This record gives sequence, C-alpha cells and structure tokens, in this order.
Amino acid sequence: MRYATRITLALSIAVGLTWGCERESPKNSSPSTATNADVVPVASMDEAVLRTWADMGRKVWLAKACNMCHSLNGAPLAGPSPLGVWGSKQMLADGREVLVDEAYIRESILNPGAAITAGYTDKMISLKGNITDEELRGLAALFRSLKAVPSVPASAPTGGPR
Ligand code: HEC
Repeated sequence: MRYATRITLALSIAVGLTWGCERESPKNSSPSTATNADVVPVASMDEAVLRTWADMGRKVWLAKACNMCHSLNGAPLAGPSPLGVWGSKQMLADGREVLVDEAYIRESILNPGAAITAGYTDKMISLKGNITDEELRGLAALFRSLKAVPSVPASAPTGGPR
C-alpha cells in the first residue's frame, strides 16, 4: 500500500512538472510566428533573430513613447540611454551594481522604482499591465542590438592622416 502511494505521488509530481512546462507561454525566434519549438532568451539569439526582435522592439519603443525620456544615441535625457549598456554593470542610486541583461530590463520596465539608475530619479511610470511579454522581449532585444559601437559604413574614411 505504502509503495503504491509513493508511486502515485511520484506520478503526480511528474505530471505536474510536465504541465508546468506546457503552461510556459510559447515564444518563438520571430515575433510573428510563435511556436513552442525555440524559446530563445534574448542573450542567446543569433544576429538574424535578434534583428527581427529588435525591429519589433523599436516599434514598441516609439509606440509607448519611451523616446520621450530615453535617447537611443547615448545622450542622457530624463532617463539614461540604452546605447551600449547591454552586458555592462549599471550603478544604482542605492549603491548596488547590477548586470544589464534581459531580466534587469524587464524589471526596470515593469517595476521602475525597484532599481533606480544612479544619477536619475524615479520618474518612470511602470508599464505593468500595459505591455506584453513579447513586447518586453522586443525591447530587451533592442537594448542588446544597441550594444555594439555603431559600425562604420564601408564607404566612410577609415581615419588617420590623408
Ligand atoms: C517619463 C520619463 C520616462 C519614460 C516615458 C520612460 N522612462 Fe525608462 N527611465 C526613466 C528614468 C528617469 C529612468 C532612471 C531611473 C530608474 O531607473 O527608474 C529610467 C530607466 C529605465 C531603464 C533602466 C535603464 C538603465 O540603464 O538602468 C529601462 C530599461 C527603461 N527605463 C526602459 C524604458 C522603456 C522601455 C520605456 C518605454 C516603454 C521607458 N523606459 C519610458 C524615465 C522614463
């Protein structure tokens, strides 16, 4: 009897775990064609996939007026610019240092008061309830896509004395 109980318990745990996985909302490599097949965290997206998500993120950025307080070119406005912050350590007003990754970006958008960037004040309004998981992913991808120093066009002078 006890043995049977244990089996039943083990089985229900297994089933519970399986359900847990399936409940995970399906997110795909591309914003428009979601299947369960490849759930990719922004950090491990390859360049092409990243570009698709970042393009979507850029639209969200404009639609939600993030550019009112954030520039994409590095200039500080009411809030810090996302240019080049992905993967770096951000100093917070309370002295903590945090890694700028997808989790931090999501948290900063959903719960801006939780981590105030050093040098700024708590002016940002939470988007909790007004933004989808896909949109958050797009915004994080936008941040990551702004990591690289803007590439110099092939036709531009390479520098040095002429
Ligand atoms: C009313 C001005 C305002 C608007 C609009 C705004 N933000 Fe902010 N945001 C700020 C300020 C000020 C900070 C710095 C203080 C803080 O960390 O909350 C900030 C911080 C952030 C951070 C943390 C950045 C870092 O380097 O630490 C992220 C990410 C962010 N905002 C994303 C967004 C996104 C995405 C939107 C649009 C959906 C947006 N913000 C709209 C003012 C704004």
